[in-house]
Amino acid sequence: MAPMLYPAGTTTNSRGHLEIEGCDTVELASEFGTPAYLFAVGEMRSRARAYRSAFADRTDDFEVLFASKALPVTAAYRLFAEEGLSVDVASGGELTMALAAGYDPARIYMHGNNKTDAELRLADRSGVGHLIVDSFDEIERCERVLERNQDVLIRVTPGIRPSTHTYIQTGQLDSKFGFGLEDGSAATAVARILDSPRLNLVGLHFHIGSQIFEIESFRLAVQALARLRGDWCCIVNLGGGLGIPYESGDRPPPIEQYVALKVGAAREFFGERVRILIEPGRSLVGTAGVTIYTVGTIKEIPGLRTYLAVDGGMSDNLRPMLYDATYEAVIADRPDAPAERRVTVAGSHCESGDILIRDVALADPQIGDTLLIPATGAYGHSLANNYNGMPRPPVIFCEDGEARVVVERETWDDLLARDA
Ligand SMILES: Cc1ncc(COP(=O)(O)O)c(C=O)c1O
Repeated sequence: MAPMLYPAGTTTNSRGHLEIEGCDTVELASEFGTPAYLFAVGEMRSRARAYRSAFADRTDDFEVLFASKALPVTAAYRLFAEEGLSVDVASGGELTMALAAGYDPARIYMHGNNKTDAELRLADRSGVGHLIVDSFDEIERCERVLERNQDVLIRVTPGIRPSTHTYIQTGQLDSKFGFGLEDGSAATAVARILDSPRLNLVGLHFHIGSQIFEIESFRLAVQALARLRGDWCCIVNLGGGLGIPYESGDRPPPIEQYVALKVGAAREFFGERVRILIEPGRSLVGTAGVTIYTVGTIKEIPGLRTYLAVDGGMSDNLRPMLYDATYEAVIADRPDAPAERRVTVAGSHCESGDILIRDVALADPQIGDTLLIPATGAYGHSLANNYNGMPRPPVIFCEDGEARVVVERETWDDLLARDA
């Protein structure tokens, strides 16, 4: 078991089972069923605090935003609001959850490359603090739809391509997001919004990509963004993107180093008078979450491969299929036993590509064992789907030995609920 992939304090308990924040994961599997997403509440809180204290050591003028697409769960919004984080939402649905959690609308930042009239009206009615404007069409739409004056930031693609999967690179000119720096459209958008009767331009935003380990690209992006600097610019939002370990060999930079780099770059290129914002998602919740499954079948093809099938797959974790994402796993019933059997962990979907892990060594896996995949806290629940009519798993928060269901498991009946 590689400790950096698990929430702090994860141990093997007296029964020999993997325990997270005092909760026996094998017991949780039998109590709540599988698959299930388990979250270590203490780990989420301590990562939020690490972000805030890394900022507070360097500047008074900052906001850390929970990029809620990573875990759009009302209880998670509530938790990060308690920790003093602001929040970013990328749709009317995420906005609804943030509001339901009691988020102060002034602390909500709303993204979206195609915000609809209905979404803009909801933002307007609810008093959302800032919109991140993404296109010229949106500027016009805002002017037509909004009934009150609105503070906005402009989303800029600064022309920096960090080294990460192409699907999660978002800072290059050739992107569906934002206004390009290189083609002059960002400068045109600045001029256009400064002239707007409805929109009040207060800052700039970029998000160049996700799961990034080489943080130097952020400095280059801030430097590029500063070409647009003006007196009106009192907020720079430098996006999210810090990577997390998914496998034992992964060594992302610590939060402290990432914040130091972003604050240093913002102060260097924008001076002392701007408020600095960041929007971490994955690095707040990724390693706080694990997914538990039950081993259902083991198919050995002699000399070729052993397929171990679990009771979930691409409906609860789309990342392996979407980004070729890789993971490790343990048998939660005996995490310390020698892992000597190499297997491919397959899901239960009617799809050959439904493979969660291509090659992993496990401790003598048996039918009925609880297989646990760590570092599934980000973009697991949020990308979950009902492929093959698979009900989506529950979300369970673990804290001080208590497990609390914060999102119920879907049922087969729920799958009929939307039938007209
Ligand atoms: C605009 C924006 N901000 C923040 C994030 C969060 O990124 P991460 O989860 O890599 O921190 C994303 C993720 O895609 C995003 O699109």
